[in-house]
Amino acid sequence: MSNPRSDETFRTIWLSPDNPAVVQIIDQRRLPHEYRVHDLHRWEDGLAAIDEMYVRGAPLIGATAAWSLYLAASAGGRAEFAKAAAALSASRPTAVNLRWAIDRVQARLAALAADGNIVAATRDEAEAICDEDVEISLGIGRHGLDLIREIAQRKDGPVNILTHCNAGALATINWGTATAPVYLAQREGIDVHVWVDETRPRNQGSQLTAWELGQRGVAHTLIVDNAGGHLMQHGKVDLVITGTDRTTRSGDVANKIGTYLKALAAHDNGVPFYVALPSTTIDWNIRDGVREIPIEQRDPREVSHVQGELNGTTVSVNTTANNTPVSNYAFDVTPARLVTGLITERGVCAASEQGLLALFPEHAEQA
Ligand code: MRU
Repeated sequence: MSNPRSDETFRTIWLSPDNPAVVQIIDQRRLPHEYRVHDLHRWEDGLAAIDEMYVRGAPLIGATAAWSLYLAASAGGRAEFAKAAAALSASRPTAVNLRWAIDRVQARLAALAADGNIVAATRDEAEAICDEDVEISLGIGRHGLDLIREIAQRKDGPVNILTHCNAGALATINWGTATAPVYLAQREGIDVHVWVDETRPRNQGSQLTAWELGQRGVAHTLIVDNAGGHLMQHGKVDLVITGTDRTTRSGDVANKIGTYLKALAAHDNGVPFYVALPSTTIDWNIRDGVREIPIEQRDPREVSHVQGELNGTTVSVNTTANNTPVSNYAFDVTPARLVTGLITERGVCAASEQGLLALFPEHAEQA
């Protein structure tokens, strides 16, 4: 099985070339065993794709919401659009790109004359969000590449980078956030190797990050989530780069559950811990991530059951005694003090309000 598109033209969401009434996505639930394209005909299909994690990752969730609004506008004009916007907003609470994308398409409609073409306007906005996301990821890649290059220049052997969850091409439109610097480093001929956290319970690391690194020929090794501390103690990690679903204006970062523990281990071992993010992931309205970022709780079955493939069929296996109480917190918050730096499309900065505002001064008046 291989991805039919090249690295340059890879996309996670697009308008069907055969039918402009259909938006297409990759059904990420089936990776790495099957690359299957899934059609979205109605905005409700987009909502289900977000809810059921056909698509996931903060930037892609936002883009899927934008395309769902295009489907809503096409089906039922402004009334359907408003209904879809309300339902989509409530779908996944932690990643802020969702709200950002909905606000952006809403603002485009608000600026449109009453007799303007709302189908064309929503389509243009969804396309622009996707095109800009690709450029933003490449910007993150270029700035993160400087960090990798600097490590490569002072050591022999590969630069070992540890990542958690999937903050890769599959979580964005292409290139990823945490993975963009890795892909650009590899393109430059730098010897890179990625430690891939499995990322229980949904295994975005083993099922998605390992898959896409393999597709692009990047050396990588899958590890269980609890291995990171051990590897850091033994000098086997040069750098940690993760993504984030929401970053506060003071630099606290919410990301997939377990990220905080990696940051603690990195801090204890003097390993640089960077977080890669598009500015669309910054919530300029809040400062205290632990208290103010809503943490999504998901279906307990994601914890009690493990999903995999057996003889070509997807199977789900219960690993617990029946009726075992389970909780499933999907994200945690890493305080800014544990973050060495934030890699954004405008450069690398300290994880602090001052650091972020130096790169994004237009937000100085907000909050
Ligand atoms: O629950 P998910 O798979 O949507 O969680 C995704 C993550 O936590 C990613 O690391 C984050 O969205 C950054 S993606 C560029």
